Amino acid sequence: MSLFNVYPLFDIAPVKAVDVFVYDEKGIEYLDLYGGHAVISIGHSHPKYVKNISNQVSELGFYSNSIQNPLQEKLAAQLVQQSTCKDYQLFLCNSGAEANENALKLASFHTGKKKVISFTNSFHGRTSAAVAATDNPKIVAPINTQQEVEFFDLGNLNSVEIALQKGDVCAVIIECIQGVGGLDEGTTDFYKGLDKLCKQYNVLLIADEVQSGFGRTGDFFAFQNHEITPDIISIAKGMGNGFPIGGILIQPTIKASFGLLGTTFGGNHLACVASLTVLEVLKEENLLENASTISKYFIEKASTITQIKKIKGRGLMLGMEFDFPVAALRKELIFKHHIFTGSAKNPNLLRILPPLTIKKQHVDQFFEALKMELS
Ligand SMILES: Cc1ncc(COP(=O)(O)O)c(C=O)c1O
Repeated sequence: MSLFNVYPLFDIAPVKAVDVFVYDEKGIEYLDLYGGHAVISIGHSHPKYVKNISNQVSELGFYSNSIQNPLQEKLAAQLVQQSTCKDYQLFLCNSGAEANENALKLASFHTGKKKVISFTNSFHGRTSAAVAATDNPKIVAPINTQQEVEFFDLGNLNSVEIALQKGDVCAVIIECIQGVGGLDEGTTDFYKGLDKLCKQYNVLLIADEVQSGFGRTGDFFAFQNHEITPDIISIAKGMGNGFPIGGILIQPTIKASFGLLGTTFGGNHLACVASLTVLEVLKEENLLENASTISKYFIEKASTITQIKKIKGRGLMLGMEFDFPVAALRKELIFKHHIFTGSAKNPNLLRILPPLTIKKQHVDQFFEALKMELS
């Protein structure tokens, strides 16, 4: 059987990975500045992660959500402690799209309304409502167009208010720093204004922290830099360091009832242990602080390179905008210098999403290669 050919692949097959390095079957070492698309938070094959997951699978890998699973309670408690987001409730699922799908569904249940407001260049996943709220018509199938979504430019509070005044909106969904869209971020005034408007018109504000959450920006959540209080926060990617897990943090004003949401695999024992280990290592190894320190170092180095027109993003969610498309440069970085980087919707943007364990010497290695390619 052939594979359904939806991914344009680089011809590399990793067989092993340790911390910030990935190794192919020939033993070639690649520096991973892509983190498997912002997924690897505590580094590949972290010893504690390997040990905890191995121990858990030898005891109990999975049972359904029809029994008690104290690991879910433990994860909720740790999340409160480390994110400082108090008073939320936790629902666990398996991916970023699923987190946003549940967030949007919950907003619709809660308000009894169905229109969603989203933003230009947003990406929220590929499922029904999540993909409809994504600004990419190429991945929206006719079946998804039944969802009512209006898109506005980041910063355009006025248009958002006019739309909310009509009284048919259930949710405003936003990435505080856009990922795939190209690392744009609104101003604090904009996010605060959005928060205020949502409260004024009884519309739920959903912060999509799937990519920017779990310490990637140096804050636990990217929205915390703007002092807002989202009604729902969606999480995934770095949450499990590669083990599939997602979730939503839900304000207490939104009431649960049996059967309102549900999933077979969500919050299973292995997934909880993976995420608990991520939280433990983030704390023990001060990885949020490391994200900020290395980010500063990276930006300093990038700002000395004249071909880089703009440096975007925060923490270890960074983008460098050139005045030429970067596809060829990315290829050279991979095949000649053995360094993985990321791309974005903007063809001129090179994205950097490394494990949060990255050190200055790895940044130096990248800039040596980059300078060689640009000279
Ligand atoms: C901001 C954001 N939301 C949602 C998603 C979808 O996550 P997943 O691919 O786990 O469904 C992504 C994935 O890139 C993302 O970057």
